[in-house]
Amino acid sequence: MKILGIETTCDETACAVVEDGYKILSNVLSTQIEQHQPYGGVYPELASRLHVDRLIPLIELALKEANLEKKDIDAIAVSYAPGLIGAITIGLSAAKALSQALGIPFIGVNHVEAHLYAAMMNNQTIQLPGLGLVLSGGHTFMVKVTRLGEYEMISQTVDDSVGEAFDKVARMLDLPYPGGPEIEKLALKGNPEAFPLKAGTVKKNPLAFSLSGLKTNVLYTIQRLQKTSFTENQKNDLAASFQKVVFEDIAKKTSLALSHFEANSILLGGGVTQNLALQTFFNETFGSDYELYFPPKGLSVDNAAMIAGLGYHKLKQQKISDPLDLKAHPRISLA
Ligand code: KG4
Ligand code: ZN
Repeated sequence: MKILGIETTCDETACAVVEDGYKILSNVLSTQIEQHQPYGGVYPELASRLHVDRLIPLIELALKEANLEKKDIDAIAVSYAPGLIGAITIGLSAAKALSQALGIPFIGVNHVEAHLYAAMMNNQTIQLPGLGLVLSGGHTFMVKVTRLGEYEMISQTVDDSVGEAFDKVARMLDLPYPGGPEIEKLALKGNPEAFPLKAGTVKKNPLAFSLSGLKTNVLYTIQRLQKTSFTENQKNDLAASFQKVVFEDIAKKTSLALSHFEANSILLGGGVTQNLALQTFFNETFGSDYELYFPPKGLSVDNAAMIAGLGYHKLKQQKISDPLDLKAHPRISLA
């Protein structure tokens, strides 16, 4: 089964062809980072317009790189939620039209479920139940993964997502958007013990995440340091201290969640999981007791291979969508 995947929920226009859920025949992407950079974050209307310009050529490129023609595609999978409503609508409309024109199944995929599925794309024999963690720019949550398509929500963030906190702290440090990779680079040169920062706790819910207080704390620290001189070394130290405290907080809450049920594995997905310091820290902390799965290289951030891959399993489970009915949703929960 060769599935064409389409992804336009945010600022990446992405298309891919994946065979039988795992074999990536092509995976192409056109990022809008440069166009959004002047705004310090994603400008929704601009994102939609750029998707309109780029999507059709990208679909053609994905087919060409897979050495396929439209008639060789067995089904089309597309992200229908969550994300920017205008941006999603571009990909969704194209997928609907193409599936109707070709007379092939149309499958709506939840973008955050696909982020978790990305962690499964390296391995077809993952032991479940597992603990799933999505750490992206739009989302931060933990779920119990009973099997593919069956989730129980454990906790979420009550304010900023992890990626958002990285992006905002990066902005405070005058680093370009997206801030995650920039903070990771600076952190390599800094002392993570230099600043005593703390991540937030949520009253009556020790599993929930809260990062807005930490973000404010970083801002006050910068303002204090700027009163004298804010050196490059201090900037590196602050990036390292911030990153460390965030990852320790995630690991602490992961441990607590794992004490509530018998998990065999930990699955991590979303843009932040491409951070190598996070991968190393999780491997050191949990690697001897659990099987740990991160997305293959390039599949942590938004991409269409995870959409096409998950689409295959939905198709096998007969979870086919109605192109005349499925609407874009800005917010939708996994469980
Ligand atoms: O999953 P993603 O591509 O898009 C959403 O669905 O949100 O995640 C993007 C987020 C951004 O906030 C970005 O700063 C963050 O992932 N990110 C990172 C790293 N690479 C991307 N955060 C920390 N370290 C990284 N290396
Ligand atoms: Zn995403």
